[in-house]
This record gives sequence, structure tokens and C-alpha cells, in this order.
Amino acid sequence: MASMDNFEFAHRHRKQVVWMSQNTNMIPLSPKINEAIRQSVNEREYNLYGFKKGVFGLCDAIKADLKMEDWDIHLTNGGIEGLYMANRAFLQPGDEVIATDPSFMPIHDQVLMAGAKVKELDIYHEPWKLTPEHVSDAATPKSKMLLIIDPNNPLGTAYSRQEIRALCEVAEDRGMFVIDDITYRDFNPLHTLASDFYPEKTIVSYSFSKGCGMAGMRIGAVLAPPDVMKAIKKFDTNVLGVNVLAQRGALAALETKKRWLPKLRQICRKNQDVIKSAVSKVRGAYLPVFPSLANMFCVDIRETGVNPEKVEAMLLQDHYIHTRAGQYLSKRFGPRFVRVSFSIPTEQCRKFAAAFPKVMKALSK
Ligand SMILES: Cc1ncc(COP(=O)(O)O)c(C=O)c1O
Repeated sequence: MASMDNFEFAHRHRKQVVWMSQNTNMIPLSPKINEAIRQSVNEREYNLYGFKKGVFGLCDAIKADLKMEDWDIHLTNGGIEGLYMANRAFLQPGDEVIATDPSFMPIHDQVLMAGAKVKELDIYHEPWKLTPEHVSDAATPKSKMLLIIDPNNPLGTAYSRQEIRALCEVAEDRGMFVIDDITYRDFNPLHTLASDFYPEKTIVSYSFSKGCGMAGMRIGAVLAPPDVMKAIKKFDTNVLGVNVLAQRGALAALETKKRWLPKLRQICRKNQDVIKSAVSKVRGAYLPVFPSLANMFCVDIRETGVNPEKVEAMLLQDHYIHTRAGQYLSKRFGPRFVRVSFSIPTEQCRKFAAAFPKVMKALSK
């Protein structure tokens, strides 16, 4: 079964499936999120277009969450839309973007849509992330942007404050923009924003899909200094604003975040141990990065000789557990790993732990 068929199968069995395929978050956070959405529904707020600058308080709450009070902000249909706008605003045919392999490839596709190219630097080895030397060696006069996904999807690595500073210095020396994709920031208590060091040309991509568990709501934001934002907004195709129900939920998520975030991190940490112990039962399988500072792992299975696509299919069809074969995240390294997301209730994670060794055994024969 090809990957798209797996998604159809998973959605048809949505309630039975353990969702470990898209780094979504199935852990209940706060009842206030549902309450806010329900209240908006009850008031039929959806009859109106939302106020273009967002429901009152939402943009300020995002800026406060990041301590970026002086920055311009623009609400989007998920972080992905702001990334698209930024790529279109600053890239021309012939330009290059420095990014990684593996990576979240839809962003690379956006670069191609703008006519530019992506230089994918191999990070599938220690330290499993970009280094300033690596970026500096790869940069050419055509390099317009550095894409930093921090924490990284799919590896789960994160950058220290010193590492972010050093990457920003390289970008600044070369006059490159930094796209700071902080989609998984909530999972890393020590996360550092690139905007702390390079405010002139950093574009921050913010998401409610992962930490806040609102992937299906499609809400996010892009933050940038005013002159940069002016250029980005020229590519705003969504002039009538973002879904108001999503905005109400997002605001409630931020208002309650201090209460639910520690628990979310604690469950994720516990789940990492559950998965690690299951992986250690399979000879030839290992976790390149442990602990993960995001909500997913790459489980490397190259030594087992098993194809990750077969693992994805069997886990789903026989056990109703949806993971993602690495091929989606890297043509080159994808055949070596399966990506598993663990922001799910621990009892669901235990189902994966029971099934994974069985599936690997069955497929190794
Ligand atoms: C690195 C990265 N950036 C952006 C996105 C898109 O997030 P959103 O749902 O906010 O559009 C994803 C989604 O998986 C992601 O992994």
C-alpha cells in the first residue's frame, strides 16, 4: 500500500488508530480550548469574516509567548502558509536556500515553486544538525536564505543558544535571511530564537499544530521586522482572514499554556522511554537522537534490511498504528528510518511498543 493509501485507511479508522505519523498532538491539554471553540460556534461567530488582524488578544498572546513584543505579526492558515509567503517574497529564479537532508520537504517544494533551488546539507550523522562550518562552506553568492528547523523534524535535534548565535553570524556575514521554523519549540524547554541574534533578517514561523494540538484547525503565524513583513504581506492570498474558530481555540491554548505545557512535556518524556525500550528489542534498530527535543524520533532500521514503507504498512493494517516511512522526509536517507511521533497518551505509545518488535520480526523473515 502506498503512503497516500495509508492515510486514507488511517482516516477511515480515525478513532481506532494510534496517530504517530504527522507529529500531531493527541494529548488532552485544557478543556478551555474546546469551550472557547464551542462558545464561538454557539454565538455563530462564523457568520462573519474574522477581524483581519485576528481576534482581539491573539496576536499579542503569540508575541508574549515568544517575548517578541516589538515584532510585526501576521496570522496564517498554519505555519506552512507564512513559509510560502516568505519564500515567494524573497526568492527569485537562480537563488539558493540552504537547508538540510532529512527535512520537512514541503518547505523545499515551496522554494522550487519560487524558481529557486535548495542546497540540502546532509545532517544524517553526528551531530545530526547543521553546524556553522557546514553552512559557511556551502554558502555561495546565490545563497539567499538559511532554513533552520529547530527543533528539527524528523530527527528531534535542537540547537543550543551558542549554536543558534553561530548560525546567525554565518547568515549575517553572507547577507542571508534566516527562516526560523519553530514549529516544535514547545517541546524544547531551552529553545532559543534566531531573532535574538539577527533581528534584521530573521523570519519566524509559528504553529499551533503541534504543542497546542490544533493541526486540523490550520492556524499559525509569521513574525518579522516591519520592512521584511511588508514584503511578505505582498504574497497574502488570504485577505479575508483565518478561521475564527481556530483563532478562539488558539487564544485559549495560549491563555492556559502555563498549566498544560509541563504535563505535555512530562508525558512526551515518558513516551520516549517506552519507545526506546521497544527499539532496543530489535537487533539492528536504533535511535540516532535520544532524547528527542521535539515530539518525534527517527527509528533507524537500516541494519535490519527491512523497508520502512513495509513497516508503516504493517503497523497500520495489522495494528492500527500509523507511523511514517522515512522516504517522505529524505530521498537519500529515508529508506533507513521510520519516523514515530510520541505526543500521544502513554497507553497508546505502549501499543506501539508491543507491536514494533513483532512487525520487525515478521518483516525480517
Ligand atoms: C518543520 C515544519 N514546519 C512547518 C510545518 C507545518 O505546520 P502547520 O501545521 O503549522 O502548517 C510542519 C508540519 O509538520 C513542520 O514539520
